Amino acid sequence: HPAAVPVAITINGRAYELRVDPWVTLLDLLREQLGLTGSKKGCDHGQCGACTVLIDDKRINSCLVLAVTKHGSAVTTIEGVGAPGDLHPLQQAFVEHDAFQCGYCTPGQICSALGLIAEGQAKTRDEVRELMSGNLCRCGAYTNITDAIVDVMERAAAACGREDA
Ligand code: FES
Ligand code: FES
Repeated sequence: HPAAVPVAITINGRAYELRVDPWVTLLDLLREQLGLTGSKKGCDHGQCGACTVLIDDKRINSCLVLAVTKHGSAVTTIEGVGAPGDLHPLQQAFVEHDAFQCGYCTPGQICSALGLIAEGQAKTRDEVRELMSGNLCRCGAYTNITDAIVDVMERAAAACGREDA
């Protein structure tokens, strides 16, 4: 309709040419217009991290950004990270470490952790915990979530060591 604005956006490697109302958040675009419901709506106010996605490899709360402002961006949602039978190593680590209970926070936790790892800021377990503090888990699975992320970081570091040797 008349208010809709053209938006070109790449999501999980697929290029979309959309018309989007200017007040629609990226989260609502993903969930309601595109049916990508892996990204969750917890608070819709930037306070829980359930809606975290990656934009050009940086993590953001998709409930806080208007979709039209992301024209030209590349977005990765949990659907683009991995799928049953083809899990990303971080997803595999979440399974191995029992890092979820209800699972509602998990897509956001995983996208956020991917952003964290890409940022390269967290070197210690405490730093991982601190830099993941924007992602709440009502089930209180924090210890296991941190275990899973630290495990993946250590395995990556070990793999680099082997390549250097
Ligand atoms: Fe976006 Fe809670 S739904 S931060
Ligand atoms: Fe239930 Fe985190 S696993 S909210």
